[in-house]
Formats: sequence, C-alpha cells, structure tokens
Amino acid sequence: MNLPISEHINAVKTVVVPAAGMGTRFLPATKTVPKELLPVVDTPGIELIAKEAADLGATRMAIITAPNKQGILKHFDSFPELEATLEARGKTGQLEKVRAAGKLINTVPVEQDQPLGLGHAVGLAEAVLDDDEDVIAVMLPDDLVLPFGVTERMAEVRAKFGGSVLAAIEVAEDEVSNYGIFELGDIDAESEKEGIRRVVGMVEKPALADAPSHLAATGRYLLDRAIFDALRRIAPGAGGELQLTDAIALLISEGHPVHIVIHEGKRHDLGNPAGYIPAVLYFGLRHEEYGPHILRAAKEILAEFEAE
Ligand code: G1P
Repeated sequence: MNLPISEHINAVKTVVVPAAGMGTRFLPATKTVPKELLPVVDTPGIELIAKEAADLGATRMAIITAPNKQGILKHFDSFPELEATLEARGKTGQLEKVRAAGKLINTVPVEQDQPLGLGHAVGLAEAVLDDDEDVIAVMLPDDLVLPFGVTERMAEVRAKFGGSVLAAIEVAEDEVSNYGIFELGDIDAESEKEGIRRVVGMVEKPALADAPSHLAATGRYLLDRAIFDALRRIAPGAGGELQLTDAIALLISEGHPVHIVIHEGKRHDLGNPAGYIPAVLYFGLRHEEYGPHILRAAKEILAEFEAE
C-alpha cells in the first residue's frame, strides 16, 4: 500500500535512480557486477542511495535498470536461507546487515531496454507514480554527495520558491565539459548567503568557451512533475542522447522556476576507480571496526609510495 503524499515529510514520495548504464569506466569489474553493487567498504553504493532516499522521507525508489542488471533489485529482497543460517549461528550483527537494505524503502523496478540517455531513463519513471505526486527526486548513484542531506535542503528551497531544485558544485575549468552547467540569474541577498541561486539556463557538457559558469549539476535533482512533459518534447542532445539537462533548460525557457543549492561538502564519483577508491577510503577511515586498521595501512602505503 502506498502512503498518501501528506504522510511524506518532504512531500517527496518517489526517488528515481537511473542505474541502467553499462559501467564502461569500471571495466572489467562491471562485466558481471553492476557498478551500483560495488561495495563502499562493505555496503553497495545503491544501498547508500536507498538510505539517503529514506532519510529524505521517500517511500518508493524507482530503479531504472537494464535487462542484464537485475542483481541491483535482488539486493533489496529477503534472503531466507542466509538469514536463517545467520540466526541459527547467533550472528546478529551480520543478520542486521543482510536485512538492512530491504527495510529502507520500497523498490520498484523500471526497465530501460535501450541506452537512450539519462533523460529517457528518468522519463520512464512516470509510469510508476501516483496521481498525488507533483515532484520526484532523482539521485544518480554514481554521485556520492557528502555529508548526506543535500536533498532535504533542496526540499526546503522548493517549498519556498516552487518549481525544481538541483544540487550544484563548483568544478575546475578542465572539468566543465563533463557536466551539466548552470547559467545564473539574480536572487535576494539572504538566499545568496545560504548558497541558493536562481538558474536562467542550463547546458549539457559545454566546451569551456561556451560554459556560462563553473557550477555543475551533481547528481541530486528535485524535479516538478512537469519534467515528464518536457522530456517528451526534447530531441537528442549531447552524445546523441536524450538529456535531462535539455528538458530542464526547456522548462526554464518556459518560465518554470529552477534553483540550485551550492553544495560545499564533498562529492565522490563512484563510477570510475579514481573516484571510487577515495570514497572507499573516506568511509573506511571512519568505519567503527575497520577504521583504525585502514588508517595504519593507508599511512604505511603512502609513506612507502613517497619513498619509492
Ligand atoms: C550526468 C548529467 C550531467 C551531470 C552529471 C553529474 O552526466 O547528464 O548533467 O552534471 O551526471 O554527475 P553523466 O555523468 O551521466 O555523463
């Protein structure tokens, strides 16, 4: 049974998680293991996203997957035999870990059978929404945005300004062409102090010379339901794909309010080893059980490396 929207603390019922990508930046590991299941210490990235979605107050996670990536959904199932064995052996800690994912949120599979782009993937989620939902959150599982909680701030901004709200980070010049980049308008001084900006344009993966700013979309979106109509009206864009950015740009051009929350914390890209390994180290160092050992080992490895 689905709870009505009034029972959702941030008025967001569904988080959409596009997870159909081929994981080419993480081959060969991703030949058989979806990148969303690679562990951050011991917990798959997709479970961290489910926790973030539940903390936002959402009760449904629509996972957009490709036909060969169904293992992602399985992670949220129950495992009766494994659970019974752990229970019989008194391994309550591990039992908790096995059960944690399934308790977080109700997962709903949405299949994307062709890689037509992020915009296409998000558009497919419309089919699972209830009539009382006027906003969705989109969380890209490659992006780990720390500390957690940026979407709660974004929900506050939507409550104040309406429309759609995105998370942004400042990126270096040589990185702007990897992201959706924002063009900014004016806003009141108080909002500006709080890291909120009004957006008057957005462009996907621009050349540096064409980039309207260095503020990039970083994988967290609160999108008004109007996005689905816009997604139906865009043509393929950067990379020949249907881009979410282009649908947002279309809404802006039609007067739909779009704001960003500038995130001052960290952001890890779990989709490639160079971002994934620092993320594992970040969580590993803070892990209650493994932290002290990882710290010692990391210091040794660094010292040896520097002496080489
Ligand atoms: C996607 C979006 C882009 C955004 C980025 C954040 O790009 O299209 O606008 O800035 O995620 O990680 P991708 O990383 O899929 O190329």
